[in-house]
Amino acid sequence: MAWFDWSSLFIRWFHVIAGVAWIGASFYFIWLDNNLRTPPKWKQDKGIKGDLWAVHGGGFYEVAKYQRGPEKIPETLHWFKWEAYTTWLSGFLLLSLIYYYGASIYLIDPTVMDLTPKDAIIRGLGLIFGGLFIYEGACRSALSRYPALFGIMLLVLLGAVSYLATHWFSGRGAFMHVGALIGTIMAGNVFFKIMPAQRLMVDAVSNNTEIDPAWGLGAKLRSVHNNYLTLPLLFIMISNHYPMTFQHPQAWAVLMAIGVVSAWIRHYFNLKHIGISRPSVLITGAIGMLLIAGWVSYPRESEESSATSVSVQSAPVMLNAVEQKAFDVVQTHCANCHSAKPTDNLFVVAPLGLIFDTWQHIRAKAPLIYQRAVVTKDMPLMNKTGMTEQDREAIRKWIEQ
Ligand code: HEC
Repeated sequence: MAWFDWSSLFIRWFHVIAGVAWIGASFYFIWLDNNLRTPPKWKQDKGIKGDLWAVHGGGFYEVAKYQRGPEKIPETLHWFKWEAYTTWLSGFLLLSLIYYYGASIYLIDPTVMDLTPKDAIIRGLGLIFGGLFIYEGACRSALSRYPALFGIMLLVLLGAVSYLATHWFSGRGAFMHVGALIGTIMAGNVFFKIMPAQRLMVDAVSNNTEIDPAWGLGAKLRSVHNNYLTLPLLFIMISNHYPMTFQHPQAWAVLMAIGVVSAWIRHYFNLKHIGISRPSVLITGAIGMLLIAGWVSYPRESEESSATSVSVQSAPVMLNAVEQKAFDVVQTHCANCHSAKPTDNLFVVAPLGLIFDTWQHIRAKAPLIYQRAVVTKDMPLMNKTGMTEQDREAIRKWIEQ
């Protein structure tokens, strides 16, 4: 499936670049706003309310923020909207390619729910667009006047979506759908509110009419949401690499806990930007992350010690019974993908170059095998080869000996 891998690579690459540009621009403007200083009198007379000097890349920059707007709209005005739109479009394309086109490998986990690809895709799209619909409805309702209450509602919405997704899909498919909803809400905020408000402002300046402060207000609430959602969203983007999170039996709670604690850490930087230094926020955030790590990894690792240990016989060439059993399990359940010549219908090269053709290969990768087949249990991929608990036990026994 060379075309699949290459499309995935190019789209993902583009998606990351667009995302860096979007989040980077948004971090930059937050920083800019918080570092503006009162300008000298002659600038104030021109209607400038904030002034900033910076040096970067071998030059000096002077930035001015106007109280209302320039006298007339300059010929080139930068909007910063395509960063958001291209991030969303490429993200949606990537989701469609990997989780919808590849639904049976990446989205559906029959041990969670035995969905047909069509059902899984409908549920996935339902979560993303249903969630967006509820969020947009809430923004247009009276709830938008109570930011704290709105925040709680948003948390409940994301919690419910995480719960449903992890009970319908594979762990990573579920996490990606929560990420897709958050990304859709954020891009929607730009599209449905922030851009229209900016268009009204530009029109008002062009036509020399009053700027209504209410335009900015609704946009402000949505910017605050986007700000706090950034870190959780970025975690979900990289979560694929960390099966201990999405393979956890309470994966939805792990996701929510990491989301809440990372938003709390974002809060520290928001406070810092407006001149309030509150290290307690950062410290409690760090403690929170450590507690999550302990909760996710500790109990499952302690389970292992309860298994009966098998006596060790040193047999350098010959495999003992336990080793032979582990070897057979890996040959039956892993080597169709993880081989120099895979026989799997989708993987024509060994995934991540991991090969289990000989005992030497297998022994060298023992910790990795143990991690994915016994601890996180996300290998074989989607349990495609139907590995049983006894098979996993066999590997555990071998590692322990
Ligand atoms: C259907 C194909 C398939 C089967 C069968 C399969 N794997 Fe994998 N494996 C993959 C793919 C694809 C990846 C890379 C994506 C990922 O990490 O999820 C992978 C990645 C891994 C990794 C991560 C390597 C690294 O460097 O991070 C390990 C370890 C692994 N597999 C072990 C196993 C074991 C052990 C078995 C058998 C119990 C097994 N796999 C069966 C497809 C498969």
